Parts: sequence; C-alpha cells; structure tokens
Amino acid sequence: MNRYRSHHNAELRKSDIGAQATLAGWVDVRRDHGGVIFIDLRDREGLTQVVFRPEENAELARQAHHLRTEDVIQVSGRVAPRIAGTENPKLATGDIELLPSSLTILNRAENLPFHLDDEVKNEDLELTYRYYDLRRPRLARNLRLRHRVTQAAREYLDAQGFVEIETPILSKSTPEGARDFLVPSRLAPGKFYALPQAPQQYKQLLMVAGVEKYFQIAKCFRDEDLRADRQPEFTQIDIEASFVRPEEIYALTEGMLAAVFKAARGIDVPTPFPRMTYREAVDTFGSDKPDRRFGMQLVDLADVFRGSEFKMFRGALDSGGVVKAMNAKGFAGITIGQVDELTAMAKQYGAKGLAFIKVENGEWKSPIVKFFTDAEKQALASKLSIEEGDCIFFAADRWEIATEVLGRIRLRIAEIQQLTASSDVLDFLWVTEFPLMQFDAAEDKWNAVHHPFTRPKADDLPLLEEKRYGEVRAEAYDVVLNGVEIGGGSIRIHEPELQAKLFSAYGVDEQQQQAMFGHMLRAFRLGAPPHGGIALGLDRLVMLICGELSIREVMAFPKNNRGMDLMSQSPAPAERRQLRDLRLRLAADERAQSESKSPPER
Ligand code: AMO
Ligand code: AMP
Repeated sequence: MNRYRSHHNAELRKSDIGAQATLAGWVDVRRDHGGVIFIDLRDREGLTQVVFRPEENAELARQAHHLRTEDVIQVSGRVAPRIAGTENPKLATGDIELLPSSLTILNRAENLPFHLDDEVKNEDLELTYRYYDLRRPRLARNLRLRHRVTQAAREYLDAQGFVEIETPILSKSTPEGARDFLVPSRLAPGKFYALPQAPQQYKQLLMVAGVEKYFQIAKCFRDEDLRADRQPEFTQIDIEASFVRPEEIYALTEGMLAAVFKAARGIDVPTPFPRMTYREAVDTFGSDKPDRRFGMQLVDLADVFRGSEFKMFRGALDSGGVVKAMNAKGFAGITIGQVDELTAMAKQYGAKGLAFIKVENGEWKSPIVKFFTDAEKQALASKLSIEEGDCIFFAADRWEIATEVLGRIRLRIAEIQQLTASSDVLDFLWVTEFPLMQFDAAEDKWNAVHHPFTRPKADDLPLLEEKRYGEVRAEAYDVVLNGVEIGGGSIRIHEPELQAKLFSAYGVDEQQQQAMFGHMLRAFRLGAPPHGGIALGLDRLVMLICGELSIREVMAFPKNNRGMDLMSQSPAPAERRQLRDLRLRLAADERAQSESKSPPER
C-alpha cells in the first residue's frame, strides 16, 4: 500500500486487534521502560500508543530509542491488545497498541522552543512559533470549532436566502470610530486606500443594487489599542437586508446564533432573547453590555438622599446628578489593597472618590455613616438588602460617571469573587434604543455613537429638529452574550436629505460630504430601499463558544498586544525601491539626510 497511513490516530479499536495498520504523525511522548520504547503518536485526531520491544525487533527498538518529541514518523505493524491492566480508558485507542515492523522517520524536529504540555507564560515566544503552538490540542480544537461556527452560519444564512458577496479590501475610509489602516497607491502617488473597518458602505450600496439579502464572513481592520477582545484585524459575520424592521434582524440573528450553538456545542439556545433598553442596562448594571449572570445591581438612592444633610450626596443630586449604590454580598473582608485598587479605578473613570460601608459584627463601618440619619440608614438597609458581611459601594456624580464607575467596580468584584468562574449559563441579551449621538468635549462636536448611517428613531425626529441631540435615540441594537458585545447593528438612513442632515450634525460640511460620502448620497437618490443589518464579531463569538478569555486563542495567527506578528516579523521596514515607487519618503529619512548635511554640533 503506497499511502502514508491506513488509519488516523484516534481510530483503532479492540475490533482491529490482529490487523495490520500504518500510522503517521508526531512523536508526542517517548518513554523508555528498560529498553522497551513507548511512543504516543499524535495526529490531529488523537493519540495511538506504539510499542517497540527489543525482543521482537532489536534494530527497530534501537532506532526508536533515538526518536525525539515532535519528530514526524510513519510506522507499520500489527494491532495488539494492551497488556491487561495497562488499558487507558481516557483514550479512544486506549485498549490497543501498535507493534511496528517498520519505522520511517519522515522529518526530524530539533531544539524545540518550548514543550507543548508546558504552561508557557511567554506569549511572545508562543506567537513567534505560532505554527508549533497551534499543535496544542486546545488550540487545534478551537480552530476546528471556529470552522464549525462559520460553516453553520453560512448554511443558516444560505437557507434564509442570503447571498454571500465579497467586498473590496482596498477601499475608502468608512468611519466606525477607529483609526484606518492606509495603503499608499503606486498608480496615484500621494493617494491612499483605506482598509475597511467594516464593509458598511458596500453592504448598503448592495441594498441599493437590489441584492436585498447579503452576508459576508468579512475581514475588518481597525487601528486601535488592543485588548483581550480586540485585534487590529478581525472577522465579522456581516449581514444586511432590505425592507426589514429591527424585529426581523433580531429573529434572523437569534436563529443563526441558535444554529451555531447547536452545531458547535450541541446546545439548544432558547429564543427569542430578552431585551433591555440602553438606559435600563446602564441604570441597573452600569454597562451597555451587562453581564447578568450575577446580581449586584445598581440601586438609585435619589429618594433617600434628596433632602439629606450629607453634603456629598445632596450636592450631587442638587446639581442634576445621581446617588447610586450597589451591594457586594460577602465582600466585607475587602483588603486594603483591594480598596486602593477599586478607588484608583473609580478615579480613573472620573469619580472624585469611592465611598463604601462594610458590615462587620453587626456594625456599619465607614467614615460616612455618621452623616446618615436613622431614617436614611433604614431606607438604605431595605433598598440594598444589607446584611452581615456585605460591602456597599456608593457613587455620587453625574449619571454617566456614577454608572460607569459602579459598573466597572461591579465587574472587578465579580472577578475577585469568581462569581462566573464555574457558570455554564449562556445569557443572551438585546440592548436596544442606544443614543444616536454623543458629545465629544475634546473635539467640541457631536459624533455618531454607532456610525453616521444609523437611523434615528422616528419618534425622536422632532428632537433632532430641535437640535436636542443628546436625547435622540437610534434604531440601533447590540447583541450581548455574558457581558461581551458579540454584535451590533441598526436600521439605516435611506433618504439623502436625512443623511445629509445628520452628516451636518456630525460636523461634516457639504464639501466634505461630497468628498467623503458623495457616492452614498448619490446612491440614495437612485431608489434606495429601506434597509438595515447587523455584524457579529466572529472572533468574540468563537471565544465564548470555546470558553476562552482572549480572541487570540481562536485566531490562527493573531498579533501580539503591540499589533505585531512576531512570527513573520511584521510590520517591517519597506525597501527603498518600494518607497520610491510609491513616492513616499519617511520623516526619519529626512531627518537622517538633514543630519548628514549639517554635521552634529558638539
Ligand atoms: P461594530 O463596530 O459594532 O459594528 O462591530 C460589530 C462587532 O464586531 C466586533 N468587533 C471586534 N472584534 C474584534 N476586534 C475588534 N477590534 C473589533 N471591533 C468590533 C464586535 C462588534 O460587536 N458596520 C457595523 C455593523 C452594522 O451596523 O451592521 C459595525 O462594524 O463583536
Ligand atoms: P471625604 O469626606 O472627602 O473624605 O470622602 C469620604 C469618602 O467618600 C471617601 O472614601 C471618598 O473617596 C468618597 N467620595 C468622595 N466623593 C465621592 C463621590 N462623589 N461619590 C462617592 N464617593 C465619594
């Protein structure tokens, strides 16, 4: 037989005993038991034990003795039962072993950078040898689950009549709130393509084209600061449809996510998903992507402190702010280090401080308790269900700051108390009625919360006319899973006048509108249908499906936290000739040139 193998390494069973088999793969482990060599032979499916006994074939056993971890070999021989008592019930092939009559070394592995069964702490090293790191069964499983997910999504969308269409990567800047990656043009010197932050404009133009139902597993590029759930290059399941209302996008997304979880994990996800307005999410969880797997909800205390003598709280209320608190159950043992950490966090998000009360030995311990009347204390105790061992945190500030601070602290405490560590709950949630616009004080202008193509809610159009921009709600929605935003979308503006009006509100004057978005405005004048859509973050979705904490674990070749591909060493300097072709000169070159002209002063 002229094949590399007859079986894969998770295939042979008791019923194969006595048969001949040829296996190939990597040496996972080599053990030497008094001259008998045991090899765990690995391929992508699993392991088979291969045993070289000197009394059966001394020459083969001698060769096997020299095998090293990760050598690539091929073995042929007889399938035999394992000696009674040495079966491994944890292994699919644990009842048998292969007794080889031939061994071929297909390739050697030298000087391993690290061992695959080690818990390596050096991420840079792992990313440098990513092709090797990916041999870890966990990562290999993640890549295959990712394939399951995209496959299930494609099948689902196809069955719903959606058409997969590729849109350009060399494209024009589309504002999604991040910086663009630019690609210089050789044929048009001094001009640049932008890599798409999302296929947003193209998919809307496909609606104008009459496609009606589009999707794409789309690569997106955003030059922003990296985090565990953010990469500069990531993938969306991008969807757009014509003649739809939000309800239809919700149902489609729910159906797709249910199909995906069924295919990847065998889980039945209940639909429809619950919904919550943005306002309610921020009010009760201090976040627009609430993790509802634990309580610790924010409680509003305006009623309690409206007429209070306590200046810190009264003052916040009098100036239009809020007083909010949350009860961290069983957290009275908070350490000084944790107090410092949480206080620093509160200040980082704009609070003046972080007041808290610990309930220990029946006593409320806090410098602020002395300012409370008995009635206020009673109201607090009942509103927050205060009991022995609790720790209550307060924020008195503007609504935005108080909610964000408590929301962040809530998540950090949940992490410290490991409230979700053993949870297998899948909490899906729609967050709706996002604000359309937010004011950027640094730029002194209004920006789109989602993107500038998002439609204001019909009920709020009068507010837009009155320029009460902060109050206008958008026809926009996010889908959240366990506190992670896995997708977001909106119904779009399809009328050229309304779109132009919103561009103006975002500070894009008419000339800029023509230069940046002329094609969109022209397209809307050629019979653009009402349309809307959504994009799901595929990496984040797969991360949650795989139970990982970072999207890097579900991407084949991620960048490190400085946006570098350490394996291929990119980004890398360009050749002089390439720069010349592009008519680009680096500022560093200019400096070097001017330095070479004028000798450095001493
Ligand atoms: P949005 O910007 O909300 O919407 O992105 C949609 C989803 O993409 C994921 N995502 C990311 N994943 C990994 N790394 C990143 N840097 C990153 N940025 C975003 C998130 C997010 O929910 N065009 C609109 C969609 C629409 O309106 O239809 C858009 O891109 O999971
Ligand atoms: P002080 O009376 O300034 O010493 O503050 C008492 C406690 O309240 C300290 O723990 C402060 O960090 C905290 N604190 C101060 N301002 C606020 C605020 N606006 N909201 C919540 N806590 C605050």
